Amino acid sequence: MLTAPELHALKGQRPSVWITAYDVVQAQVAEESGIDVILVGDSLGMTTLGYDTTIPVTIRDMVHHATMVRRGAPQTMMIVDLPFATYPNEPTALKNAVRIMQTTLANGVKLEGGHDIIPVVDALIKEKIPVVGHLGLTPQSIHTMGGYKVQAKTASAIDRLIADARELSAHGVSAIVLEGIPDRVAEFVTDHIEAPTIGIGAGSHVDGQVLVFHDCLGLSPSLPKFARPFAHMRNNMIHGLQDYRDAVLHHSFPNDAETYHISTREWEHFLQEYKN
Ligand code: KIV
Repeated sequence: MLTAPELHALKGQRPSVWITAYDVVQAQVAEESGIDVILVGDSLGMTTLGYDTTIPVTIRDMVHHATMVRRGAPQTMMIVDLPFATYPNEPTALKNAVRIMQTTLANGVKLEGGHDIIPVVDALIKEKIPVVGHLGLTPQSIHTMGGYKVQAKTASAIDRLIADARELSAHGVSAIVLEGIPDRVAEFVTDHIEAPTIGIGAGSHVDGQVLVFHDCLGLSPSLPKFARPFAHMRNNMIHGLQDYRDAVLHHSFPNDAETYHISTREWEHFLQEYKN
């Protein structure tokens, strides 16, 4: 299993490959595929819980799903999101992060934000909890951002993002997720900080990539511009279930090989006894 210092040391060596996961099967598949880091993201809210945003996701949800993921992928580095409004100050953040670390056996937590969350980052790292940052398009700020929009498109916004990234890196985060920003900005940040940058919708000049499991494998009904489906699971699953339905309607499932049998002798014996 990759450790936080090893993840940091990969910068400049090779890209790290991250995927989100939310349950046992997804975790098993991720581990069997040799993925470096599983992120139990609060995208759980949309992919699995049926919400429109990440805002309703709770610590309880994260604990429930991250525990499943850990059971499915005991050998893979697992980072778990602290969801919306669960790290407003140091004591609350510490309480919630410790709960996640102890109950799910996570290897670290991810938080959205820059300068404003530095005291929280310091408090967690002081308690030996590896922290991953998240800058750019931060879905927990959907309401203040005014929608899922590409960020850091003006000189002043780029300045702010770079200052945040530098500060997070200087305070010892293990990596920073850069979401929904122009590729040049992501490359500049990557070249000017020590922490590895993990991109999602941030182009290819970063230190690693993360994708949402459902986008990566073609399970999502629609895809953002930056995602590539490396498989087409939604269609495969629909075709599979349609074939199953047809086979049942046409009495071709189950066939003889898919059926348990009893010897004729035992059966006749039963019928004889039953009649009597
Ligand atoms: O919640 C999540 O899955 C994330 C990734 C999109 C980076 O934060």
